Amino acid sequence: MLQKTSPEIGGMGHPVKRKEDLRFIQGKGNYVDDVHLPGMVYGQMVRSPYGHARIKSIRTDEATKLPGVLAVITGQDLEKAGLSWMPTLFHDKQMVLATGKVLFQSQEVAFVVAEDRYTAADAAELVEVEYEVLPVLVNPHRALDPDSPILREDRDEKTNHIFHWEVGDKQATEKAFQTAPVKTKLDAVFPRCHPAPLETCGCVADYNPATGRLTVWETSQAPHAHRTLFAIVAGLPENNIRIISPDIGGGFGNKVPIYPGYVCAVVASLTLKRPVKWIETRSENLQSTGFARDYHMTAEIAADREGKVTALRVKTLADHGAFNAAAQPSKFPAGLFSICTGSYDFSAAFCEVDGVYTNKAPGGIAYRCSFRVTEAAYLIERAMDALAYELKMDAAELRLKNFVPPGKFPYRSPLGWTYDSGNYEAAMKLALERVGYEALRKEQEEKRKRGELMGIGISSFTEIVGAGPAHSFDIAGLKMFDSCEIRVHPTGKAMARMGTKAQGQGHETTFAQIVAQELGIPFADVTVEEGDTDTAPYGLGTYASRSTPVAGAATAMASRKIRDKAKKIAAHLLEVGEEDLEWEPGKFYVKGAPSKAKTIQEIAFAAYTNLPPGMEAGLEAVHYYDPPNLTFPFGTYICVVDIDKGTGEVKVRRFVAVDDCGNIINPMIVEGQIHGGLTEGLAIAFMQEISYDESGNVQGGTFMDYLVPTAVETPTWETDKTCTPSPHHPIGAKGVGESPNVGSPAAFVNAVVDALSHLGVRHIDMPVAPWKVWKILKDKGAVE
Ligand code: CDP
Repeated sequence: MLQKTSPEIGGMGHPVKRKEDLRFIQGKGNYVDDVHLPGMVYGQMVRSPYGHARIKSIRTDEATKLPGVLAVITGQDLEKAGLSWMPTLFHDKQMVLATGKVLFQSQEVAFVVAEDRYTAADAAELVEVEYEVLPVLVNPHRALDPDSPILREDRDEKTNHIFHWEVGDKQATEKAFQTAPVKTKLDAVFPRCHPAPLETCGCVADYNPATGRLTVWETSQAPHAHRTLFAIVAGLPENNIRIISPDIGGGFGNKVPIYPGYVCAVVASLTLKRPVKWIETRSENLQSTGFARDYHMTAEIAADREGKVTALRVKTLADHGAFNAAAQPSKFPAGLFSICTGSYDFSAAFCEVDGVYTNKAPGGIAYRCSFRVTEAAYLIERAMDALAYELKMDAAELRLKNFVPPGKFPYRSPLGWTYDSGNYEAAMKLALERVGYEALRKEQEEKRKRGELMGIGISSFTEIVGAGPAHSFDIAGLKMFDSCEIRVHPTGKAMARMGTKAQGQGHETTFAQIVAQELGIPFADVTVEEGDTDTAPYGLGTYASRSTPVAGAATAMASRKIRDKAKKIAAHLLEVGEEDLEWEPGKFYVKGAPSKAKTIQEIAFAAYTNLPPGMEAGLEAVHYYDPPNLTFPFGTYICVVDIDKGTGEVKVRRFVAVDDCGNIINPMIVEGQIHGGLTEGLAIAFMQEISYDESGNVQGGTFMDYLVPTAVETPTWETDKTCTPSPHHPIGAKGVGESPNVGSPAAFVNAVVDALSHLGVRHIDMPVAPWKVWKILKDKGAVE
């Protein structure tokens, strides 16, 4: 049980306002583009207009002649330095600047450096690239056809196939299907989408020839890992590289990979011996940096006639684009997709995934998602609805019948995960009650009689966050632990640094609250710093909702080390034995004599002025936390929609979100995370898709086509919670940031399909745009 702290201390559970917002709302944040260094110059990418083409020649002389231009770097120049290709985060390599062929529209072809941004942009237009256009492959289902072009000439394997991955018991699953009286099958695409953070990617690379030091300000969610990879790839000594991730305006997975722009800026700075800034435009970000999803999935469920599920079979085709740059832990080619049994107690399951190359931008990043859990949650939650239709059973009743029961945790899933804790029924029942489910079903029945279209969609997702236990989780070989270092100063104020890096999640507040909880130092007196590899302890960064499960745990553990030392000092000051002391947040007191006490501030002062004989001075600790397991947050979302028959427009009338992320550090921040994630889920479900035409032209490359919801399109989110602490996390917390993005798309789509189910509609692929709905209504004869 966590002890309650006063509002002044502001430990766990206090909805304190975010410290960082003071600077953000005043426009005083410090982002990469705010970095201005003396002598700084600017880089601009030249990009391919074609999806697949051979480069016949690149002429740079006109660009070089433009006054103010300092250099034009091509793939051939990088080749001489052995840097024209770089390793991706997932066992592949990627061109930094194209040599030979371009493989997707907007691929990086040359890098122009000039005294100012405008000259660099003008000069980029003067670089003449002669292309020979080649046949384009955009449909992943055609990737393995004999007449499709082989895209990657650099590989020994002359195929567009990247990997086959399977998990589960195939035979047991087949057997269950053979005897099952009820079977259902669903084909669903989770379309290619993009995190589109407000701030695009960029960097300032500053090589100092006098010291040999390279400092890179970078929009990176994982600065420590980037430093190591820079050292390995460029052969620079790691102690001479400093990566600083300053304030970041949203990442959502998009800022995990190393992009060619970073590498080119570093090369240019090493060459010119001047600081080089490179900042992407919005379209460059949408067209060339890490996309998400693009999973083409089939799920089959076997069940008995009463609706008890027995087996799940999943087959998926994963479109990875031109390079396999997916940011997944090394042992998981399809990320954590094998969480696809979801919240349900299947006795057998089998899941297989094949990855292929196409002429699209590389990526496969976890957009507000733990490595493909969003795809998994969407699939199982859509498939459970498909089964409900098959059985003519209510979608809520079917779920309640099949949930992993609370008494079965820790629960071993048939695909190999051990869920730490859960109470799915409680979350669902609360959501049903909050939304007024029974009354809504009656209303729907009446409306149907009147020819009106109303739908109710449920999603009871299970998440998997907190990568990860070092025995099976690494990225590019680096184990996925995380860290915290705390220093308590003589006056009782503290500084805490982590290996993570927030991009808007509020770590400066919540991690200070963890220290406040554990040490009783008011959260306002704890400064949290992340993102500078010179000062913060090594960690794998912030993505996949891993910060709280891993670095949050490290923060609690480092605090506890400090409290252990503080106890020894308190015993010395109070002249009693350690065993005579009790702790309450903020002080040690003598058992039975609460007035004989020493506050943490008094103890901190003594740590520098009046120590027990033989004790080292100072009050500091560092902890590297290797989680024993992941955490498994969950929730039930219920969406109510009305559909306008005339236009096909879907209006989200209600959306109730019940989340369970274990113990909550800051309820206000958690609610903010849920609002943001639901809004992104809404956008994915109804508005967004990065699609390609048959010539390889990207269709969602600007905000005119890739729509971002405003307050006008966004409904009021109704949030609630249950609390099932993680048994293995030091403060019982699970991650939460990605849950709403993971859980909501299925709720939206289920609601729309439910509204149209009486017409025989069983599935609609996202984005559920008005034209698609209207066309279905027309085809089904529901409108004139
Ligand atoms: O890794 P990332 O920060 O994106 O995700 P997270 O660990 O889910 O945390 C998102 C924000 O919610 C952070 O500020 C967390 O500290 C906060 N949080 C919380 O207050 N209580 C929880 N149980 C989980 C997260």
